[in-house]
Order: sequence, then structure tokens, then C-alpha cells
Amino acid sequence: MPEELNEKIKLAVEILAKAKNAVVFTGAGISAESGIPTFRGEDGLWKKYDPEEVASIHGFRRNPRAFWEFSFELMKKTSAEPNPAHYAIAELEKMGIVKAVITQNIDMLHQKAGSKKVYELHGSTEKLDCLDCGKEYDREDFIDFLQKMEPPQCKFCGSMLVKPRVVLFGEPLPTKVLYGAIEESRRADAFIVVGSSLVVYPAAELPYIAKSNGAKMIMVNYEPTVADHIFDVVIYGKAGQILPRIVEEVKRIKRFS
Ligand code: OAD
Ligand code: ZN
Repeated sequence: MPEELNEKIKLAVEILAKAKNAVVFTGAGISAESGIPTFRGEDGLWKKYDPEEVASIHGFRRNPRAFWEFSFELMKKTSAEPNPAHYAIAELEKMGIVKAVITQNIDMLHQKAGSKKVYELHGSTEKLDCLDCGKEYDREDFIDFLQKMEPPQCKFCGSMLVKPRVVLFGEPLPTKVLYGAIEESRRADAFIVVGSSLVVYPAAELPYIAKSNGAKMIMVNYEPTVADHIFDVVIYGKAGQILPRIVEEVKRIKRFS
């Protein structure tokens, strides 16, 4: 129903054109059009892999190789370039409308697209830690292992428990990042969720925090989520198609106001 879609885009544009403190919250869906598979849904990763085995801290300690095989499989599939949705969000930040991006993704595509203030709730792969001796590493330290797709081994103590600083199931979120993200959500006058099923906590708490502090709520997602009822505008579609349209319209309005 293109009529209805246009109407919803118009509502989202009206909210954003007035916003001074918009916050964007993203999940795996925003990177789907960059070729990165999502976790849930028909072709989701959790249909093929057991998260307890490949993405939990207990699984990692038991068998780091299973985690690495999963990670290398993912790396092979991804082209890892930002798509028009990432660029549209960076553009809204440049226009002074978006103040922060809060992401559950570890792909760093927001930063690559030019977003400056990014809260990585689930960490990133830039740093690694040896869980046995505590030695910290940069990604570059293991670039030879990673390129050959071999699990890294601690250069200090020989342990195989070298883990990228991403949040696995059973691990807490990085405290400072989480508190920063909560503060941004409280202050938000507009809160836009893009590409998340909103089922993983505590990340999924943030839209509720924004809502209860008065933010206007916009959702851009391919499918319905468990939290659609708290949003003022819900747009079902592909982020890479919808967000650039919204940003073009906001620009047009801003030029004439
Ligand atoms: P999910 O895979 O749970 O949800 C992705 C959402 O994106 C779904 O609701 C899809 O409908 C939607 N989607 C798919 N393609 C899209 C597109 N092109 N445009 C817009 N929406 C699209 O991913 P997350 O909500 O990010 O955590 O999952 C949250 C956490 O669960 C992840 O960070 C990860 C995972 O287990 C950890 O590993 C700790
Ligand atoms: Zn070590």
C-alpha cells in the first residue's frame, strides 16, 4: 500500500524535522543489506547455529574453536560495506538532528559510514583479551591468524582462550557504554529503532526508557516486533530503502523552513 507508506514516512519526517536530540537504535537488520545475516527470522543464524554453543561465554570457554569457526563463516559471507541506511543515519547526525547512535551490532558499519557518536552495546572486534592471563590485544596483533582463519593463541601464555571484546550470552554489557546509552535514551526527543527484533535485554529496555521520558517513537523494521505498540510511527520495510527517503524529505523541509 504505497499510499499508507507515504503517509507514515511523512509522519516520521515531521517528527525528525522538529527533533533536536534524536537517537537511533540499531540491530542486525540494518546490516542485512550489507550482506550480514540477521540472528532471528527465516534465514537467521540461530536457525543454523546453537547460540549456546557458538555465542555464549560458557560455550567459548568449553570450545573456543566452535566460536571461531562460526565467526570465520560469518566473515566469509560479509562484504562489510555500509549500505544507504548507515549513510542516511550519518547524514542526520551531520545535520544536527541525530545526537547518538546506539547499536547492538559489532560490525562497525556506522563508524565506517561516518557516524561519530556510536555506543556499541555488544562491543566490537577491535580488541581481544586472553581470558587466562589477562593480556590485551589489538585486532592487528592477530591479523595473520584472522586472515588465515585460524583461532588465535595468546602470544604470552599460549592459551587458546583469546576472545574478541564482544558481548557473548552470559556476559554483562560494558558498563560505561550501557550507562551512556541509557542517558542518551532519557534525553532523546525522538527515538528511531532500525532493524531489531527487540527481544534481547538489557538493550531492548532502551526504547521503553526513551518512551517513558517523552520521546516520539519511530520504528523501521522489516517485520513486526514485540514492542510495536509503543511506537508513534511503525514502518515495515527495508532500512536501506526507507531511511534515505526519510532523510531526503527532512532535508527538503529544512531547506524551506
Ligand atoms: P535480530 O536478528 O533478532 O532481528 C533483526 C530484525 O531486523 C528482524 O526483526 C528483521 O525483521 C529485521 N530486518 C531484517 N532485514 C531488514 C532490513 N533490510 N531492514 C530493516 N529491518 C530488517 O537482530 P537483533 O535485534 O540485532 O546479541 O538481535 C539482538 C541481539 O541478539 C544481537 O545483538 C545478538 C543476538 O543474539 C548477542 O550476540 C549478545
Ligand atoms: Zn594469555
